[in-house]
Amino acid sequence: MLLAIETSCDDTSVALLDEGGVVRGLISQNQDSSHGTFGGIVPEIAGRDHSARLLPEIDQLLKKCSLSLNTISAVAVTSEPGLLGSLLVGVITAKALAISLGVPLISVNHLEGHLFAGFLKDDLYSPPQDFGFPFLALTVSGGHTSLIEVQDVGKYKVIGETLDDAAGEAFDKFAKMVGLGFPGGQKVDELAKSGRPSAYSFPRGLKSSDDFNFSFSGLKSAAFRELQARSPEEIKARLNDYCASYQESIVDSLIEKLSLASKKLGHSRVVVTGGVSANSRLRVRSEEWAKKEGVRLLVPPLRYCTDNAAMIGWVGLQKLKRGEIADHTLAPSPHSRIEFEN
Ligand code: KG4
Ligand code: ZN
Repeated sequence: MLLAIETSCDDTSVALLDEGGVVRGLISQNQDSSHGTFGGIVPEIAGRDHSARLLPEIDQLLKKCSLSLNTISAVAVTSEPGLLGSLLVGVITAKALAISLGVPLISVNHLEGHLFAGFLKDDLYSPPQDFGFPFLALTVSGGHTSLIEVQDVGKYKVIGETLDDAAGEAFDKFAKMVGLGFPGGQKVDELAKSGRPSAYSFPRGLKSSDDFNFSFSGLKSAAFRELQARSPEEIKARLNDYCASYQESIVDSLIEKLSLASKKLGHSRVVVTGGVSANSRLRVRSEEWAKKEGVRLLVPPLRYCTDNAAMIGWVGLQKLKRGEIADHTLAPSPHSRIEFEN
């Protein structure tokens, strides 16, 4: 049984996966209540919260799965990229466990985890058997918005990125502007369900550029200007329309560049993943697009979209099979150290 640990940002998450990649248990706790009042993640608080929660969470997971520590045969941990103080808690705990249990330690890149979240298996979900390599991945989270060609586990080529904010950041900043708190992507999604996407015409960043990059700063400024011109009562009365229109601009930009890249580079398999892939509108629009274009689409189940240790475990298992074991000098890094050849 492989134990996976994810503490790169503000979610403390642990998972147990068997050798076949089936998730036997997953527990995740977010820290929204600790950071909400500050309107964003406070790194010191994130690290402290992880250190208070991680060991009790591992105990809880083992109990839930009726397993004991000595059934763990490997420990995989997110070591990059992320908040250094948060990563440290996971890495130090993983090292201590691996050393004391005498089992292999595996270092996993958080973005690699997101890329393969749709390949996890559990009692309720199995990925399509014939969805293989290569594929094109749209990775959309709070910290990243990238288009990546995936040739194999460990073989990636970034072909497009955001030039400014990540898509999740654009959702969160808007949510903050309209008083929905932090992080607000999910709340915007909920309110948008009863709003009109065409009520306001917000800009689509880099719409006519011929590359695969994204930009959301113009959208954010346009929304700010629009909201500044309105009273709090007006904003409240039109909140659903604002959310739907703002969300539509983000989703349009994502689908447009995904479509351009898959056509130009000839990809017939596409993955949409990361926290923002939980967005209901993005899920529907990606499905519609894939159906129209005859593209195979893989989007992880909701529980594997946002940060979770199960996806770290999946990559950990592949690395274990290849003998890619970390030694006890493993240290976390705020940046990606693996090759995302540009
Ligand atoms: O992947 P993730 O959990 O953490 C990072 O690696 O960044 O992504 C978190 C991001 C946040 O910005 C959050 O607002 C956004 O994903 N998010 C959503 C939804 N659920 C989470 N954005 C839009 N709609 C959602 N339903
Ligand atoms: Zn993430």
